[in-house]
Amino acid sequence: DAPSHFIIRGSILHFLQDPAQYADAESFQYLEDGYLWLADGRVQATGSWQQLGDIPASVRDVAQWADHSGYLILPGLIDTHMHYVQAGMIGSFGCRLLDWLNDYTFPAEAAFADPDVARVTAKFVIDRLLAHGTTTASVFGSVHPQSVDAFMAEADRRGLRMLCGKAMMDRYCPPEVRDTAEQSGQQSADLISRWHGKGRLRYTITPRFAPTSTPEQLTIAGELYRSRPDLHVQSHLAENDKEVAWVAELFPQQQDYLGVYEHFGLTGPRTIYGHCIHLTAREQAAMAASGTAAAFCPTSNLFLGSGLFDYHGTTAAGVRVGLATDVGGGTSLNMIRTLAEAYKVSQARHQPLSPLRGWYLATLGGARALYLDEFIGNFAPGREGDFIVLKLDATPELGFRMARTRTLAERLFALTTLGDERCVAATYIMGQRVL
Ligand code: GUN
Ligand code: ZN
Repeated sequence: DAPSHFIIRGSILHFLQDPAQYADAESFQYLEDGYLWLADGRVQATGSWQQLGDIPASVRDVAQWADHSGYLILPGLIDTHMHYVQAGMIGSFGCRLLDWLNDYTFPAEAAFADPDVARVTAKFVIDRLLAHGTTTASVFGSVHPQSVDAFMAEADRRGLRMLCGKAMMDRYCPPEVRDTAEQSGQQSADLISRWHGKGRLRYTITPRFAPTSTPEQLTIAGELYRSRPDLHVQSHLAENDKEVAWVAELFPQQQDYLGVYEHFGLTGPRTIYGHCIHLTAREQAAMAASGTAAAFCPTSNLFLGSGLFDYHGTTAAGVRVGLATDVGGGTSLNMIRTLAEAYKVSQARHQPLSPLRGWYLATLGGARALYLDEFIGNFAPGREGDFIVLKLDATPELGFRMARTRTLAERLFALTTLGDERCVAATYIMGQRVL
C-alpha cells in the first residue's frame, strides 16, 4: 500500500539535545515558517516552507494538508508522573504529604473498586490531557486492577502512547486500598499480559512508595520489572522530610531512601521516581549511574509544602529529569502552567530555568526520562506524529505581551508565564487530529 502523506504548515519548534549542554544550533530546530511532513503518521522530515520543493512532487500531489500558519507546532507534551485516580480530589486543603494521603487520597482512591468510577474518570482524564496538549503520561492507577483496565482501554482506543500501572500497597493504608504481596504480583502480571505492548501502551510496575510496601512486595516488584522486556517502574522518592525519616525507621538496614529501591532491584533504565527533593549526593550519583530518572513536580511540591526541587543540581549530577503534574497533589493537568511553576521554584533556588530548557524539559527531556525518546519527544525522522498547535495570543494578556517580544526565547517565556490550555488550538495523535 502507498503511504499516506500529511504536510503541516506552521512555526515549528523541537529539541535535539538539552539546551543547557549544547549550543542553540545543535540543541533545537526552529522554523518560523516551516513544514512538518508525516508519512503514515510518522515524521518523514521538517523544513522551511520555502524549501517545500524538497518534498517530491509525487508526494505533494497526493498529500493531505493542514495550514497552521502563525501558530507554534511542538511535539506533544509529556507528563512524567500523574495519578489519574486523583482527578476528583485536586485542591484538598491544609495537609502535608502523610496526612494528605490518609485524609484525602486513600479514601478517594477507594472509589476505584467500582469499574464504572474508573471508566468515567479514565475517559474524563484522557479527554482533558489531550485538551491540555499532553499526549503521553506516566500514570498511577489505584490498587484496583480495574482502574488500570479502564485507563488502558481508553488510551488504546485512542491510539495513545501511555504508561500505567496498578499501585502495589500492602501495609500502612486502609483495607479498602490494600493488597497483599502475592495478590499484587498476580494482578500486576495479569495486567502486563493484557496491556504491555498492546498498541502503543506499556505497563509500569507501580509500588506506591517504600512505606506502603513490605519487603516481600518490593521483592516481587523487582522481579516483575525483570520479567519482560521494556517494562517500566514508577514510585515516589524523598518528597517530604517526615516521609524520609519514616523510611529510615522502616528500613534501618539501608543507607538511605534510594538504597531501599536499589536493594530490591527497582532502579535502572525505565524507572522513574516522583519528587526527589531531599536527596543526598550519594543518591543523586547513584541515580545518574544507574539511569534512574526523577520527575520534577513543582505544583505538587508547592501545594503540599514538600520543598524546592534542585533542577540544576540534579541534572548537573547527571540524573535524567522529566516534568510532571503529579495530579492530584499537583494542582493542574496543564504542563504549561507546570512549567511556569518550575521556573518559580528555580528562581527561589537562584538558578532560573531558561525558556528553551523549559520547553526541552516538557518534550524531549520527558521522553528521555521515560526512555521513550526513540518514539516521541521531537520531530526526528521516524518519530511518532504526536504534536500540538499553540496559539501564542490566545488571551488578551498573551497577545499584548507577545506584541512586545523580540526573540524566540522571549516569546517562549511569555508563553510559559501566561499560557495554559487556552493556547492549545489542536492536538494530533499519529497525525490524526483529536482536538
Ligand atoms: N507518596 C506516596 N503516594 C503519593 C501520592 O499519591 N502523591 C504524592 N504526591 N506523593 C505520594
Ligand atoms: Zn505522585
